[in-house]
Amino acid sequence: MAARRLPLRSSVHIVFAFSLAALILRQSVFKVEAATTRTYDFKLQNTTITKLCKTRNIITVNGEFPGPTIYAREGDQVIVNVTNQMQYNVTIHWHGIRQHFSCWSDGPSYVTQCPIQPGRSFTYNFTLYQQKGTLFWHAHISWLRATVHGAIVIHPPIGVPYPYPSPHEEHVIVLGEWWSADAEVLEKQILASGGAPNVSDAYLINGHPGPLYNCSKQDTYLLNVVPGKSYLLRIINAALNIEHFFGIAKHDLTVVAVDGEYIIPLTTRAIPIAPGQTTEALISINKSCTGRYYMGLGPYMFANVSINNVPSYAILSCSNSSLSSSSILRPNLPERNATSFLANYVRSLRSLSIADNRMPVPQTVDKSLLYTVGLNLEACPNKICGGPNNTKFQASINNVTFQRPSLAMLQAFFFSQNGSFTPDFPDRPIHPFDYTGNPIPNLQSLPATKANVISFNANVQLVLQGTSLVSKENHPIHLHGYSFYVVGYGNGDFNLSDSANFNLLNPPLLNTVGVPASGWVAIRFKASNPGVWFMHCHLEIHTSWGLATALAVRNGDKEDEVLPGPPADLPPC
Ligand code: C2O
Repeated sequence: MAARRLPLRSSVHIVFAFSLAALILRQSVFKVEAATTRTYDFKLQNTTITKLCKTRNIITVNGEFPGPTIYAREGDQVIVNVTNQMQYNVTIHWHGIRQHFSCWSDGPSYVTQCPIQPGRSFTYNFTLYQQKGTLFWHAHISWLRATVHGAIVIHPPIGVPYPYPSPHEEHVIVLGEWWSADAEVLEKQILASGGAPNVSDAYLINGHPGPLYNCSKQDTYLLNVVPGKSYLLRIINAALNIEHFFGIAKHDLTVVAVDGEYIIPLTTRAIPIAPGQTTEALISINKSCTGRYYMGLGPYMFANVSINNVPSYAILSCSNSSLSSSSILRPNLPERNATSFLANYVRSLRSLSIADNRMPVPQTVDKSLLYTVGLNLEACPNKICGGPNNTKFQASINNVTFQRPSLAMLQAFFFSQNGSFTPDFPDRPIHPFDYTGNPIPNLQSLPATKANVISFNANVQLVLQGTSLVSKENHPIHLHGYSFYVVGYGNGDFNLSDSANFNLLNPPLLNTVGVPASGWVAIRFKASNPGVWFMHCHLEIHTSWGLATALAVRNGDKEDEVLPGPPADLPPC
């Protein structure tokens, strides 16, 4: 993966490509100037690909699947010229990039911009302000991100080492989910039927299903390693609808960063990783290693719904023996319903306090929010619906089902225009109930486009409360424009007294957090970045069902606290 072709433009990039071509990402080899500009060209196009013995057409960036990796350093400016050469509307989101005063480049369709239409282009332009680590980019419209995604790797500035021993090599591991049918068509069918999503046909590691899938023995990702060396894996879950555990046979993972932010190293046999989450982990290869091991993923799903249960494996190889060996050891992954494994892991994450940590944990709260997240069942609008008892699946936050507007919310907010959203998203549920109790009322949700308007620099506390409505599930909630501190995590209904146990000292700084099935999570951040920021479940089907909302953060009073106007090439609505 690290040696992939890159869409390199300038000479800076060619120097860069050389170091990559050597398959080495050791820090010492970098000779690129700090705070430079990285320019990439992304062409959205139709690409023919064969997986599981079926040849089909998918949408890719530059013909690559997964798409090209963006490499940069903290402080760099990144310019990506996106040209839409295919038949669907598209936008690209830079997931985890905090878009410091650059909300126009964030990318969620109809939130910060209208889509780039076929034949058109748009240039995303942002600075990696106080930002490093592993993140990713993906299409942010309908289900296109199934095949339109790729890694973002941001190294520290020159001369700033990692806070752990430098690995021998670094490798990107992108986890994906594959359907033999067109994901765009699938989404339309599912939404029309009102039922649950189709089970995917494969899980992928760097685009490869691996040996447990039909026709895929040769379609297996291979990572050659040297005995006695250590490796940094930059693991990204780009799957649409499924959370995973990831592990390697006979090798523990030492997690050093989550969502691009360093943590106190945590050693584990497996990591839980939800769509939208990224994890950097070190592995050390035994000096006496001569064989091959499987590394791979297996699903996590709390709800009793049908999913694809076949793990995807890649090979970690200390030798050059042939690929086909049935004696290769498999990773010891937790069961698909291993909720306590997941909870223990989340509770063990601690930020690493390092000198350059410029984002203090808010110790006081100006704006306190309680948002319920979960599913709803609506009355069937047609004769036949695919949900339980002829109902239609929906999802909501505080019982509001997000409706896509036709005018981008940021444009409406910036230019004070009506007709996109109303600023009255409720701070807490309007009709409180025992959220995780039994039995639970079947609430019909309100379809609307609402945002919560937040003052500049307010310290926000948001408690995300899972509900038992319809189905108890872990929801990986992603907030755009911010990383947030996860200060509390618990079972049942959140209770004011729970705040006495918050970790305000060294909580992890994430951009996507799982709201536990029948539990809650509390996050805090300072609203220091003006714009309209989407927040949603990163299980794509839940976003399609409306499990989304937005925070509209106002400008500050000072000159440098104001979001600049939109770029000239912003696509028209
Ligand atoms: Cu990675 Cu709004 O998404």
